[in-house]
Amino acid sequence: MPGPGFGFIGTEERENVLRVLDDWHDRRNTFDDPGEGRMVRSFESAVADRFGSRHCLAVNSGTSALLTALAALGIGPGDEVIVPGYMFVASIAAVVHSGADPVLAEVDESLTLDPNDVERRITPRTKAIMPVHMLGAPSDMAALGALAERHGLHLLEDCAQSAGATYRGRPLGTLGEVGTFSLNHFKVFTALDGGFLLTDDQRTFQRAYSYHDQGWFPYRDDDGDGDLLLGLNLGLSELNAAVALAQLHKLDLILDRVRTINRTLVRRIGSLPGVQQRRLHDDEGACGTVAVYLFDSPQHAADVAGRLGTKTLINSPRHYYGGIPALTAFGRGDLSTAPFRTRDGAAGAQRFAAGALPRTDDILSRAIAVSTGVSDSYLGAGFGVALRSSAAEIEVAADTFVAAVTGG
Ligand SMILES: Cc1ncc(COP(=O)(O)O)c(C=O)c1O
Repeated sequence: MPGPGFGFIGTEERENVLRVLDDWHDRRNTFDDPGEGRMVRSFESAVADRFGSRHCLAVNSGTSALLTALAALGIGPGDEVIVPGYMFVASIAAVVHSGADPVLAEVDESLTLDPNDVERRITPRTKAIMPVHMLGAPSDMAALGALAERHGLHLLEDCAQSAGATYRGRPLGTLGEVGTFSLNHFKVFTALDGGFLLTDDQRTFQRAYSYHDQGWFPYRDDDGDGDLLLGLNLGLSELNAAVALAQLHKLDLILDRVRTINRTLVRRIGSLPGVQQRRLHDDEGACGTVAVYLFDSPQHAADVAGRLGTKTLINSPRHYYGGIPALTAFGRGDLSTAPFRTRDGAAGAQRFAAGALPRTDDILSRAIAVSTGVSDSYLGAGFGVALRSSAAEIEVAADTFVAAVTGG
Protein backbone atom coordinates (compact mmCIF):
# COMPACT_ATOMS: atom_id res chain seq x y z
CA MET A 1 0.00 0.00 0.00
CA PRO A 2 2.00 3.03 -1.20
CA GLY A 3 0.36 6.17 0.25
CA PRO A 4 -2.47 6.66 2.74
CA GLY A 5 -4.86 8.28 0.27
CA PHE A 6 -4.58 5.28 -2.04
CA GLY A 7 -5.97 3.09 0.75
CA PHE A 8 -9.03 5.34 1.01
CA ILE A 9 -10.11 5.01 -2.64
CA GLY A 10 -13.76 3.97 -2.63
CA THR A 11 -17.25 4.75 -3.84
CA GLU A 12 -16.89 8.52 -4.13
CA GLU A 13 -13.83 8.27 -6.39
CA ARG A 14 -15.55 5.67 -8.59
CA GLU A 15 -18.72 7.76 -8.93
CA ASN A 16 -16.75 10.88 -9.83
CA VAL A 17 -14.80 9.01 -12.52
CA LEU A 18 -18.02 7.69 -14.04
CA ARG A 19 -19.46 11.20 -14.04
CA VAL A 20 -16.52 12.38 -16.12
CA LEU A 21 -17.03 9.59 -18.64
CA ASP A 22 -20.71 10.47 -18.87
CA ASP A 23 -20.07 14.24 -19.17
CA TRP A 24 -17.08 14.22 -21.50
CA HIS A 25 -18.53 17.05 -23.61
CA ASP A 26 -17.53 19.35 -20.72
CA ARG A 27 -13.90 18.52 -21.27
CA ARG A 28 -11.27 20.92 -20.04
CA ASN A 29 -9.96 22.23 -23.31
CA THR A 30 -13.18 23.05 -25.13
CA PHE A 31 -12.59 26.46 -26.70
CA ASP A 32 -16.03 27.89 -26.13
CA ASP A 33 -16.15 26.68 -22.55
CA PRO A 34 -14.31 29.23 -20.43
CA GLY A 35 -15.49 27.27 -17.41
CA GLU A 36 -13.31 24.36 -18.56
CA GLY A 37 -13.65 20.90 -17.10
CA ARG A 38 -16.04 20.61 -14.24
CA MET A 39 -13.90 18.28 -12.14
CA VAL A 40 -10.70 20.25 -12.54
CA ARG A 41 -12.42 23.52 -11.69
CA SER A 42 -14.27 21.98 -8.73
CA PHE A 43 -11.03 20.47 -7.47
CA GLU A 44 -9.16 23.76 -7.81
CA SER A 45 -11.75 25.75 -5.92
CA ALA A 46 -12.17 23.07 -3.22
CA VAL A 47 -8.39 22.99 -2.68
CA ALA A 48 -8.21 26.79 -2.52
CA ASP A 49 -10.93 26.73 0.17
CA ARG A 50 -9.39 23.87 2.14
CA PHE A 51 -5.92 25.39 2.20
CA GLY A 52 -7.04 29.03 2.50
CA SER A 53 -5.26 30.12 -0.66
CA ARG A 54 -6.52 32.66 -3.20
CA HIS A 55 -5.62 30.50 -6.19
CA CYS A 56 -5.09 26.82 -6.92
CA LEU A 57 -3.90 25.51 -10.27
CA ALA A 58 -4.20 21.78 -10.95
CA VAL A 59 -1.44 20.19 -13.04
CA ASN A 60 -0.49 16.70 -14.13
CA SER A 61 2.33 16.04 -11.59
CA GLY A 62 4.29 17.49 -8.71
CA THR A 63 7.18 17.95 -11.13
CA SER A 64 4.97 20.00 -13.45
CA ALA A 65 3.86 22.06 -10.45
CA LEU A 66 7.50 22.88 -9.67
CA LEU A 67 8.35 23.75 -13.28
CA THR A 68 5.25 25.90 -13.57
CA ALA A 69 5.97 27.68 -10.29
CA LEU A 70 9.54 28.48 -11.34
CA ALA A 71 8.36 29.86 -14.68
CA ALA A 72 5.63 31.87 -12.97
CA LEU A 73 8.18 33.44 -10.63
CA GLY A 74 10.35 34.36 -13.60
CA ILE A 75 13.26 32.15 -12.58
CA GLY A 76 15.60 31.12 -15.39
CA PRO A 77 19.12 31.24 -16.82
CA GLY A 78 21.61 33.11 -14.65
CA ASP A 79 19.58 32.64 -11.48
CA GLU A 80 20.38 30.42 -8.51
CA VAL A 81 17.85 28.53 -6.44
CA ILE A 82 18.88 27.18 -3.03
CA VAL A 83 17.67 23.61 -2.52
CA PRO A 84 18.22 21.12 0.33
CA GLY A 85 20.61 18.19 -0.08
CA TYR A 86 17.79 15.87 0.98
CA MET A 87 14.79 16.25 -1.37
CA PHE A 88 13.43 14.35 -4.35
CA VAL A 89 15.38 14.55 -7.58
CA ALA A 90 12.43 16.36 -9.21
CA SER A 91 12.98 19.34 -6.88
CA ILE A 92 16.45 19.80 -8.38
CA ALA A 93 15.59 18.67 -11.91
CA ALA A 94 12.84 21.29 -12.13
CA VAL A 95 15.37 24.02 -11.30
CA VAL A 96 17.80 22.69 -13.91
CA HIS A 97 15.09 22.53 -16.56
CA SER A 98 14.06 26.11 -15.77
CA GLY A 99 17.59 27.06 -16.86
CA ALA A 100 18.59 28.20 -13.37
CA ASP A 101 21.34 26.63 -11.25
CA PRO A 102 20.45 24.61 -8.14
CA VAL A 103 22.66 25.46 -5.15
CA LEU A 104 22.76 22.77 -2.49
CA ALA A 105 22.39 23.55 1.21
CA GLU A 106 22.52 21.41 4.35
CA VAL A 107 19.49 19.99 6.13
CA ASP A 108 19.01 20.16 9.90
CA GLU A 109 17.87 17.33 12.18
CA SER A 110 14.29 17.69 10.95
CA LEU A 111 15.69 16.56 7.56
CA THR A 112 14.64 19.84 5.98
CA LEU A 113 16.50 22.95 4.80
CA ASP A 114 18.80 24.50 7.43
CA PRO A 115 18.26 28.30 7.37
CA ASN A 116 21.72 29.03 8.79
CA ASP A 117 23.39 27.21 5.93
CA VAL A 118 21.04 28.79 3.39
CA GLU A 119 22.17 32.24 4.47
CA ARG A 120 25.80 31.32 3.83
CA ARG A 121 24.95 30.27 0.26
CA ILE A 122 23.17 33.43 -0.85
CA THR A 123 24.97 35.23 -3.68
CA PRO A 124 24.00 38.15 -5.95
CA ARG A 125 22.58 35.54 -8.36
CA THR A 126 20.27 33.91 -5.79
CA LYS A 127 16.65 34.34 -6.83
CA ALA A 128 14.77 31.84 -4.67
CA ILE A 129 14.88 29.51 -1.68
CA MET A 130 13.12 26.17 -2.09
CA PRO A 131 12.30 24.42 1.20
CA VAL A 132 11.26 20.81 0.57
CA HIS A 133 9.05 19.61 3.43
CA MET A 134 10.37 16.06 3.57
CA LEU A 135 8.61 13.01 4.95
CA GLY A 136 5.50 14.87 6.05
CA ALA A 137 7.21 17.51 8.18
CA PRO A 138 7.57 21.29 7.89
CA SER A 139 10.82 23.13 7.33
CA ASP A 140 11.80 26.00 9.63
CA MET A 141 9.50 28.42 7.85
CA ALA A 142 9.84 31.29 10.33
CA ALA A 143 13.59 31.50 9.77
CA LEU A 144 13.39 30.81 6.02
CA GLY A 145 10.60 33.38 5.57
CA ALA A 146 12.63 36.00 7.42
CA LEU A 147 15.69 35.21 5.29
CA ALA A 148 13.74 35.45 2.05
CA GLU A 149 12.29 38.78 3.09
CA ARG A 150 15.60 40.22 4.23
CA HIS A 151 17.32 39.31 0.95
CA GLY A 152 14.36 39.94 -1.38
CA LEU A 153 14.15 36.29 -2.51
CA HIS A 154 11.24 34.18 -3.67
CA LEU A 155 10.16 31.40 -1.31
CA LEU A 156 8.88 28.35 -3.17
CA GLU A 157 7.66 25.47 -0.99
CA ASP A 158 7.84 21.93 -2.33
CA CYS A 159 5.05 20.28 -0.34
CA ALA A 160 4.84 17.07 -2.40
CA GLN A 161 5.36 14.86 0.66
CA SER A 162 3.43 16.99 3.13
CA ALA A 163 -0.09 17.76 1.93
CA GLY A 164 -2.24 18.78 4.87
CA ALA A 165 0.67 19.46 7.21
CA THR A 166 0.74 22.80 9.00
CA TYR A 167 3.35 25.13 10.45
CA ARG A 168 2.21 27.18 13.45
CA GLY A 169 -1.37 26.54 12.38
CA ARG A 170 -0.97 27.53 8.74
CA PRO A 171 -1.10 24.96 5.91
CA LEU A 172 2.21 24.25 4.22
CA GLY A 173 2.12 25.67 0.72
CA THR A 174 0.61 28.96 1.89
CA LEU A 175 3.64 30.30 3.77
CA GLY A 176 5.79 31.09 0.73
CA GLU A 177 4.83 32.80 -2.51
CA VAL A 178 3.99 29.51 -4.20
CA GLY A 179 3.45 26.02 -2.78
CA THR A 180 3.61 22.94 -5.00
CA PHE A 181 2.09 19.50 -4.37
CA SER A 182 2.16 16.04 -5.91
CA LEU A 183 -0.87 13.78 -6.14
CA ASN A 184 0.95 10.62 -7.18
CA HIS A 185 0.01 7.36 -5.47
CA PHE A 186 2.65 7.67 -2.73
CA LYS A 187 1.21 10.90 -1.41
CA VAL A 188 -1.08 11.80 1.50
CA PHE A 189 -3.99 12.13 -0.91
CA THR A 190 -3.86 11.12 -4.52
CA ALA A 191 -5.21 11.60 -8.02
CA LEU A 192 -3.24 8.45 -8.98
CA ASP A 193 -1.08 10.97 -10.83
CA GLY A 194 -1.24 14.73 -10.66
CA GLY A 195 -0.31 17.82 -8.73
CA PHE A 196 -1.29 21.39 -7.99
CA LEU A 197 0.11 24.70 -6.89
CA LEU A 198 -1.14 27.39 -4.55
CA THR A 199 -0.52 31.12 -4.65
CA ASP A 200 -2.19 34.25 -3.34
CA ASP A 201 -0.63 36.42 -6.00
CA GLN A 202 -2.82 37.17 -9.01
CA ARG A 203 0.04 37.83 -11.43
CA THR A 204 1.90 34.69 -10.39
CA PHE A 205 -1.30 32.74 -10.91
CA GLN A 206 -1.81 34.24 -14.37
CA ARG A 207 1.73 33.40 -15.40
CA ALA A 208 1.43 29.89 -13.96
CA TYR A 209 -1.83 29.36 -15.78
CA SER A 210 -0.33 30.51 -19.07
CA TYR A 211 2.71 28.29 -18.66
CA HIS A 212 0.62 25.19 -17.93
CA ASP A 213 -1.83 25.84 -20.78
CA GLN A 214 -0.06 26.91 -23.98
CA GLY A 215 0.15 30.57 -23.04
CA TRP A 216 -3.56 31.04 -22.47
CA PHE A 217 -4.90 33.53 -20.00
CA PRO A 218 -6.69 31.93 -17.04
CA TYR A 219 -9.74 29.99 -18.15
CA ARG A 220 -9.31 31.16 -21.73
CA ASP A 221 -11.82 33.94 -21.29
CA ASP A 222 -9.43 36.82 -21.95
CA ASP A 223 -6.20 37.63 -23.75
CA GLY A 224 -4.70 38.93 -20.54
CA ASP A 225 -2.41 41.82 -19.90
CA GLY A 226 0.37 40.97 -22.28
CA ASP A 227 2.40 39.07 -19.70
CA LEU A 228 1.75 35.66 -21.17
CA LEU A 229 4.33 32.92 -21.28
CA LEU A 230 5.11 30.57 -24.11
CA GLY A 231 3.42 27.68 -22.37
CA LEU A 232 3.33 23.91 -22.31
CA ASN A 233 0.45 21.50 -21.82
CA LEU A 234 0.62 20.40 -18.19
CA GLY A 235 -3.00 20.45 -17.01
CA LEU A 236 -4.59 17.80 -14.80
CA SER A 237 -6.97 15.51 -16.64
CA GLU A 238 -10.64 15.40 -15.73
CA LEU A 239 -10.33 11.72 -14.78
CA ASN A 240 -7.49 12.39 -12.36
CA ALA A 241 -9.32 15.41 -10.96
CA ALA A 242 -12.34 13.19 -10.35
CA VAL A 243 -10.24 10.98 -8.06
CA ALA A 244 -8.49 13.95 -6.47
CA LEU A 245 -11.72 15.76 -5.62
CA ALA A 246 -13.11 12.72 -3.83
CA GLN A 247 -9.81 12.29 -2.01
CA LEU A 248 -9.69 15.92 -0.92
CA HIS A 249 -12.96 15.44 0.93
CA LYS A 250 -11.24 12.68 2.91
CA LEU A 251 -8.02 14.56 3.65
CA ASP A 252 -8.82 15.25 7.31
CA LEU A 253 -9.93 11.66 7.82
CA ILE A 254 -6.71 10.39 6.22
CA LEU A 255 -4.53 12.69 8.33
CA ASP A 256 -6.37 11.73 11.48
CA ARG A 257 -5.84 8.02 10.83
CA VAL A 258 -2.18 8.42 9.89
CA ARG A 259 -1.40 10.56 12.94
CA THR A 260 -3.15 8.11 15.26
CA ILE A 261 -1.12 5.21 13.86
CA ASN A 262 2.07 7.24 14.13
CA ARG A 263 1.43 8.22 17.75
CA THR A 264 0.50 4.63 18.71
CA LEU A 265 3.68 3.19 17.18
CA VAL A 266 5.96 5.88 18.59
CA ARG A 267 4.46 5.51 22.07
CA ARG A 268 4.94 1.75 21.99
CA ILE A 269 8.56 2.10 20.83
CA GLY A 270 9.21 4.53 23.69
CA SER A 271 12.68 5.83 24.43
CA LEU A 272 15.68 3.71 23.53
CA PRO A 273 19.42 4.00 24.09
CA GLY A 274 21.41 5.53 21.25
CA VAL A 275 18.46 6.74 19.20
CA GLN A 276 15.92 9.53 19.17
CA GLN A 277 13.19 10.83 16.91
CA ARG A 278 14.07 13.55 14.42
CA ARG A 279 13.52 17.05 15.77
CA LEU A 280 10.40 18.59 14.22
CA HIS A 281 9.75 22.30 13.69
CA ASP A 282 6.07 21.72 14.47
CA ASP A 283 5.14 18.45 16.22
CA GLU A 284 1.40 18.93 15.89
CA GLY A 285 1.55 20.05 12.27
CA ALA A 286 3.44 17.12 10.75
CA CYS A 287 1.47 14.60 8.67
CA GLY A 288 2.82 11.59 10.57
CA THR A 289 3.30 9.52 7.42
CA VAL A 290 6.61 8.16 8.77
CA ALA A 291 8.41 8.13 12.11
CA VAL A 292 12.06 9.06 11.58
CA TYR A 293 14.68 7.87 14.06
CA LEU A 294 18.19 9.33 14.28
CA PHE A 295 20.86 7.05 15.70
CA ASP A 296 24.01 8.11 17.50
CA SER A 297 26.24 6.47 14.91
CA PRO A 298 25.97 5.48 11.23
CA GLN A 299 27.05 1.95 12.16
CA HIS A 300 24.24 1.48 14.66
CA ALA A 301 21.73 2.82 12.09
CA ALA A 302 23.10 0.52 9.37
CA ASP A 303 22.93 -2.52 11.70
CA VAL A 304 19.34 -1.76 12.65
CA ALA A 305 18.35 -1.15 9.02
CA GLY A 306 19.91 -4.50 8.09
CA ARG A 307 17.97 -6.32 10.83
CA LEU A 308 14.71 -4.69 9.69
CA GLY A 309 15.29 -5.33 5.98
CA THR A 310 15.22 -1.60 5.24
CA LYS A 311 17.91 1.04 4.58
CA THR A 312 19.23 4.27 6.03
CA LEU A 313 18.05 7.42 4.26
CA ILE A 314 21.43 8.11 2.71
CA ASN A 315 20.91 5.03 0.54
CA SER A 316 18.09 6.52 -1.51
CA PRO A 317 19.81 7.89 -4.64
CA ARG A 318 16.89 10.00 -5.82
CA HIS A 319 16.46 11.69 -2.44
CA TYR A 320 20.11 12.18 -1.46
CA TYR A 321 22.07 14.77 -3.50
CA GLY A 322 25.16 12.53 -3.49
CA GLY A 323 23.21 9.80 -5.24
CA ILE A 324 22.11 11.97 -8.12
CA PRO A 325 25.32 12.10 -10.20
CA ALA A 326 25.45 8.32 -10.45
CA LEU A 327 21.96 8.37 -11.97
CA THR A 328 23.00 10.52 -14.87
CA ALA A 329 25.55 10.88 -17.59
CA PHE A 330 26.55 13.95 -15.60
CA GLY A 331 28.04 11.63 -13.00
CA ARG A 332 30.36 10.20 -15.64
CA GLY A 333 31.56 13.63 -16.63
CA ASP A 334 29.32 13.91 -19.68
CA LEU A 335 27.68 17.29 -19.41
CA SER A 336 26.17 17.28 -22.87
CA THR A 337 22.92 15.72 -21.73
CA ALA A 338 20.14 17.27 -19.70
CA PRO A 339 19.29 17.58 -16.90
CA PHE A 340 22.58 18.96 -15.56
CA ARG A 341 23.53 21.99 -17.58
CA THR A 342 25.51 23.80 -14.93
CA ARG A 343 27.11 27.07 -15.98
CA ASP A 344 30.44 26.05 -14.60
CA GLY A 345 30.60 22.76 -16.48
CA ALA A 346 32.60 19.97 -14.88
CA ALA A 347 33.01 21.94 -11.65
CA GLY A 348 29.27 21.55 -11.25
CA ALA A 349 29.70 17.81 -10.87
CA GLN A 350 31.77 18.38 -7.76
CA ARG A 351 28.93 20.25 -6.14
CA PHE A 352 26.80 17.12 -6.28
CA ALA A 353 29.49 14.65 -5.21
CA ALA A 354 28.90 12.93 -1.86
CA GLY A 355 30.79 14.82 0.83
CA ALA A 356 29.77 18.27 -0.42
CA LEU A 357 27.32 18.60 2.51
CA PRO A 358 28.99 16.89 5.50
CA ARG A 359 26.19 17.60 7.96
CA THR A 360 23.53 16.25 5.62
CA ASP A 361 25.65 13.15 4.96
CA ASP A 362 26.03 12.59 8.70
CA ILE A 363 22.31 13.02 9.47
CA LEU A 364 21.07 10.86 6.59
CA SER A 365 23.54 8.08 7.36
CA ARG A 366 22.12 7.94 10.90
CA ALA A 367 18.44 8.07 9.88
CA ILE A 368 15.83 5.35 9.48
CA ALA A 369 12.21 6.05 8.50
CA VAL A 370 9.53 3.72 9.85
CA SER A 371 6.40 3.77 7.73
CA THR A 372 3.19 4.85 9.46
CA GLY A 373 1.23 5.71 6.32
CA VAL A 374 3.61 6.01 3.38
CA SER A 375 5.21 2.70 2.53
CA ASP A 376 7.99 3.12 -0.02
CA SER A 377 11.08 0.97 0.11
CA TYR A 378 12.90 3.14 -2.45
CA LEU A 379 12.48 6.14 -0.16
CA GLY A 380 13.74 4.06 2.75
CA ALA A 381 10.34 3.49 4.38
CA GLY A 382 10.06 -0.21 3.59
CA PHE A 383 9.60 -1.28 7.20
CA GLY A 384 6.63 -0.26 9.35
CA VAL A 385 2.88 -0.35 9.44
CA ALA A 386 0.15 0.51 7.00
CA LEU A 387 -3.08 2.43 7.15
CA ARG A 388 -5.20 -0.62 7.84
CA SER A 389 -2.81 -2.23 10.34
CA SER A 390 -4.54 -3.52 13.47
CA ALA A 391 -3.48 -2.52 16.99
CA ALA A 392 -1.81 -5.92 17.33
CA GLU A 393 0.16 -5.44 14.10
CA ILE A 394 1.33 -2.02 15.26
CA GLU A 395 2.55 -3.56 18.52
CA VAL A 396 4.44 -6.26 16.64
CA ALA A 397 6.14 -3.68 14.39
CA ALA A 398 7.09 -1.52 17.38
CA ASP A 399 8.49 -4.51 19.26
CA THR A 400 10.43 -5.63 16.18
CA PHE A 401 11.96 -2.16 15.92
CA VAL A 402 12.89 -2.13 19.61
CA ALA A 403 14.51 -5.58 19.31
CA ALA A 404 16.46 -4.45 16.26
CA VAL A 405 17.72 -1.35 18.09
CA THR A 406 18.74 -3.16 21.25
CA GLY A 407 20.24 -6.02 19.26
CA GLY A 408 17.80 -8.51 20.81
C1 LIG B 1 9.63 16.18 -2.58
C2 LIG B 1 9.05 15.86 -3.92
N1 LIG B 1 9.01 16.81 -4.87
C3 LIG B 1 8.48 16.58 -6.09
C4 LIG B 1 7.96 15.34 -6.41
C5 LIG B 1 7.47 15.10 -7.79
O1 LIG B 1 6.12 14.73 -7.83
P1 LIG B 1 5.58 13.85 -9.07
O2 LIG B 1 6.07 12.46 -8.89
O3 LIG B 1 4.08 13.95 -8.93
O4 LIG B 1 6.06 14.49 -10.30
C6 LIG B 1 7.97 14.31 -5.45
C7 LIG B 1 7.44 12.98 -5.78
O5 LIG B 1 7.74 11.97 -5.20
C8 LIG B 1 8.54 14.57 -4.17
O6 LIG B 1 8.59 13.63 -3.23
